[in-house]
Amino acid sequence: MRDVDGLRAAILEWGAAARRDLPWRRTRDPWAILVSELMLQQTQVARVVPRYRELLERFPTPAHCAAAPVAAVIEAWAGLGYNRRAVSLHRIARIVTIEHGGRLPATIAGLEALPGVGPYTARAVMTFAHETDVGVVDTNVTRLLARWRGGPLTPREAQELADQLVPPGRAWAWNQALFDLGSAICTSRDPVCGLCPVRTFCAWQGRDADPAPGSTRQGRFEGSDRQGRGRLVEALRAGPVTDGRLAEVMGWPGDPARALRVARALVAEGLASHDGTRWELPEVASHDGARPA
Ligand code: ADE
Repeated sequence: MRDVDGLRAAILEWGAAARRDLPWRRTRDPWAILVSELMLQQTQVARVVPRYRELLERFPTPAHCAAAPVAAVIEAWAGLGYNRRAVSLHRIARIVTIEHGGRLPATIAGLEALPGVGPYTARAVMTFAHETDVGVVDTNVTRLLARWRGGPLTPREAQELADQLVPPGRAWAWNQALFDLGSAICTSRDPVCGLCPVRTFCAWQGRDADPAPGSTRQGRFEGSDRQGRGRLVEALRAGPVTDGRLAEVMGWPGDPARALRVARALVAEGLASHDGTRWELPEVASHDGARPA
């Protein structure tokens, strides 16, 4: 990529015209951005939009979220999957409320110290809330970078390249444009190179073997532990489940040992509780201002 300025200009121009109007792009509130980014990990934009609005209406600040039982956050997460993210959000809300005066840290290191926040989420909050000049690298951006470069990149190389390419002072628009390009043009399976605004900067141009990392799709969902986990949390949102019904609710009536193993893992992660005879969402009574575990 010799002509970095040309690449930047082409992306920014295309991005300004093609930008999707998404609710988390209308705010610079770090809490709202964090909520959106946790939801967007592993879940499609269209599914996230209604849940994002509902969750922020219910928990407009970390303090609102911290004051609620974790079960309320797990309930608000319904339909998004990967419910562990709901527990992380609640833990973050409590830490921020108790230790940071109700405000999210405004540094990458401070954000990464929070539960469930890795390099991607920390950088996304910095760039989308504070307009800090950092590259935001998820699987979609990694794909773009590998294609432009014409070869695979280690995570560190991808982050370095992403950081170098950010046009100074324009990180917000740049990173949003990369997400839009990855979703509309430079897609994983059927990229539309003929419509790409940066085709001339791209080493690959759709010609031969795709340098992007192999399919990043999740393994099979059908029959997986994840499917049983999802079924149990879904059932618990409606009410407690007795030991006797556990295996059936999880979709494994013939394999109670598996049901027990997977359900216990949910308890260990803070997504469920077990009182000896029945399973529930985590104890509602645990929200009396105690320090987060
Ligand atoms: N995925 C992660 N962050 C996003 C954003 N800000 N816009 C669209 N998709 C995203």
